[in-house]
Amino acid sequence: MLDLPHKTEKSHADGKILQSVDDGVGVITFNNPDKRNAMSLDMWEGLGLALTDLRDDPTVRVVILVGAGSKAFVSGADISQFEQVRHNAEASEEYSRRSAAQRALLADYPKPTIACIRGFCLGGGMLVAMLADIRIASDNSQFGIPAARLGIAYSYDGLRQLVSLVGPSWARLLMYTGMRIDATEALRIGLINRVIPDAELWGSTMDIARTISANAPLAVQAAKITIAEILKDRADRDMDAISAIGRSCMDSEDFREGRRAFMEKRKPTFTGR
Ligand code: COA
Repeated sequence: MLDLPHKTEKSHADGKILQSVDDGVGVITFNNPDKRNAMSLDMWEGLGLALTDLRDDPTVRVVILVGAGSKAFVSGADISQFEQVRHNAEASEEYSRRSAAQRALLADYPKPTIACIRGFCLGGGMLVAMLADIRIASDNSQFGIPAARLGIAYSYDGLRQLVSLVGPSWARLLMYTGMRIDATEALRIGLINRVIPDAELWGSTMDIARTISANAPLAVQAAKITIAEILKDRADRDMDAISAIGRSCMDSEDFREGRRAFMEKRKPTFTGR
């Protein structure tokens, strides 16, 4: 098991999704290591519940997504369910519909999210990782989208994220071949942010999470909102949302605290107001 330095506070999907909070950092664990954390529909629904809880918890400023065990982040959708629930176009649409709300929740999540990736990150696991804001991976991690090996059409939102991270050329190579790439290559093509020796992965990911958590929440939110709007088509961009968060930031107590702390040569204490 991944050595998580906190206890589980809540679980969903029969214990296959775990949720906890540690020092302002929410943690969601995909916990089905015997199946390399393959995602069943129940797990998608559990992920949605955990994301909602941590979103609504005012003590949580950042959320880490991590896989249990030493072998995988998430090895994709649970293929053993496909014969029953994803065997043709109609069933597949219903299957997508059941996970759509959860995917949207992650895509539009108001707090920063970090995927902490050890071992296999495949198919639907790549989708989860790509929907997170930041990807920190161990040196033993492997990435791939084997949709062409299974005969699956990968989703629009998955490919949109892939193209925006690695560009169309690498997206095509990955999708046409279904090949797996290692952490070094994933880093080089921009799929992940950083590669860490396996033994230091959790500590390094928590360091980044704590750094984010100690920063001014409104300023972090302003960056998150503005970057998300930049990635939309121009016609769909909500420039008012960007102005609104910019105004909240510049009028905030935290901005006052930030500039005072700098002048007084001390660490600022931010409250998110
Ligand atoms: N769905 C369902 N079961 C899965 C799974 C998945 N996505 N990934 C792994 N499993 C199961 C295996 O069937 C196996 O079950 P078993 O113990 O009952 O035989 C168990 O998890 C361990 O997998 P195994 O293949 O023995 O482990 P490995 O370490 O040699 O390989 C993977 C791990 C992830 C590379 C390999 O299991 C794999 O290729 N999985 C499918 C990945 C995939 O195609 N994902 C996209 C789905 S859309």
